[in-house]
Amino acid sequence: MLATLQEVLIYAKRKHAAIAAFNIYSYEDAKGCVEAAEELNTPVILAANHRALDYMPLAAIGPMLRGLAEEASVPVVVHLDHAKDISVIDRALKNGFTSVMFDGSSLPIEENIKETLQAKKLAQSYGAHIEAEVGKVGYTNDVKEIETAFTNVQEAAYFYDETKVNALAVSVGTTHRMETKTADLDFSLINEIERLVDCPLVLHGASGVPEAMLKKLATETNFGKVNIGTVIRKAFGDTLRTQIINNPGVYDRLEFFPVCIKQVKEVAKKYIKLLHREEL
Ligand code: G3H
Ligand code: ZN
Repeated sequence: MLATLQEVLIYAKRKHAAIAAFNIYSYEDAKGCVEAAEELNTPVILAANHRALDYMPLAAIGPMLRGLAEEASVPVVVHLDHAKDISVIDRALKNGFTSVMFDGSSLPIEENIKETLQAKKLAQSYGAHIEAEVGKVGYTNDVKEIETAFTNVQEAAYFYDETKVNALAVSVGTTHRMETKTADLDFSLINEIERLVDCPLVLHGASGVPEAMLKKLATETNFGKVNIGTVIRKAFGDTLRTQIINNPGVYDRLEFFPVCIKQVKEVAKKYIKLLHREEL
């Protein structure tokens, strides 16, 4: 069933869990992640970022994700990830997204507040919800212009007071697109943020976080949404490569993709379980 961000965050708080937000680049990713959530009977967030939108028009991916969400037996949020442009947010909302992230993390704080409020108003006019970001989560390699800057606690408190967004992404030790689990979360910074900011928090760049640390974050803090991308892309890509190498006579993608979906589902299930306090 289609859900909003706020709805699944309420579930997260009640369950001492965080909701997995998986980056989706295709039908196959979305199918694997929805099946994972259905098997575990938990909500899930399907997140499309600008790389997915560069590849596939919003008018294609929006209705596809929304259709999958509507048919699912569990709550599914259709989320726009890391949007820096209000016009993209507008088009996403027109194409069925129920949640949007306005990423003003590279802007001066007053500008970030101003544009976040515009995005929030727009989202609200569609009955959708909004995530914003304070501090910067950098990237491992190819997006050099975004350097990590840990969230300043006072700035986060001020930002939240001014915007009252539904969820707030903060930078507490992760980097996007890590392929090794060597990130180190700063739990004392997290505790300080939680003391002053009464809002569900969002972790970006979860692929690089050691599993035990991720479990602690999801089950013992106010993080309600955890963004997971690279491990899902890797599950799909590595499986596809193996399929092609092992089946040289096969050219039909419909032979390969079900195996890839299954592997995406297994990785998604592993992360959903990690993000829950209770055994699923
Ligand atoms: O917004 C997307 C996420 O932060 C994914 O990060 O690819 O490092 O897991 P990741
Ligand atoms: Zn991110």
